[in-house]
Amino acid sequence: MTRRCFIAGNWKMNKTVSEGLALVRELRGALSMVRDRVEIAVAPPFSALHPVAKALEDSNLVLAAQNCHFEESGAFTGEVSAPMLKEVGCQYVIVGHSERRQFFGDTNEGVGRKAQAVLKAGMSPIVCVGETLAEREGGKTLDVVSAQVKAALGSIPAGQGERVVLAYEPVWAIGTGKTATSRQAQEVHAHVRGLLKELWGTTAQKVRIQYGGSVKPDNAAELLSQPDIDGALVGGASLKAADFAGIVKAKA
Ligand code: PGA
Repeated sequence: MTRRCFIAGNWKMNKTVSEGLALVRELRGALSMVRDRVEIAVAPPFSALHPVAKALEDSNLVLAAQNCHFEESGAFTGEVSAPMLKEVGCQYVIVGHSERRQFFGDTNEGVGRKAQAVLKAGMSPIVCVGETLAEREGGKTLDVVSAQVKAALGSIPAGQGERVVLAYEPVWAIGTGKTATSRQAQEVHAHVRGLLKELWGTTAQKVRIQYGGSVKPDNAAELLSQPDIDGALVGGASLKAADFAGIVKAKA
């Protein structure tokens, strides 16, 4: 089973509209030769989604959002729904990022509801899971990740599973410069694939599992060579065109 490599850049709370457009211009230039082997997405902040969508037209990059609410509309001040993101041109929505879980109270159950809302709106969720340093040191990594995967995906039928993307992001590796070794990452990715098999049977072989956490041009090739690592969710290095393009080219 060949899964198409998927590299997504999570800009987090960075880039004004004009800064984002400048980055997209550079990315289009740097990545125009990358074709079918790698799918590429950028996830700007909400404020830049619409202009970036326009700037990505007729390119080989697609648009992702960083979060959404699980309801379609209503009295939820400050929130943005999945159908709104779909209309703006998003194909993917990141849900359950560890920063959302840590600072904004996202729970396993809420992440599941968001993932379902994204699917219902006709997009694909990028569902983030991962353990903290204390959990890893306590030998709890696989248990924590299992609970996160089951809670987020347990109500999604196998027929929709193929549209889901997972991102394994050890919290201790995010923005710290510490990357999981390719062996540590592959171990968790294989475990997640096993969980997906329990949930969805053979569909599990089609689901892409990205690695995230201090992915850089110089460690990307090694990580992406692992059998169950099907792409990367990139934070810091996605803010510079040369770095992000370097990561994509590790696989292209
Ligand atoms: P990082 O972030 O690449 O800066 O570690 C990854 C992420 O949070 O998705």
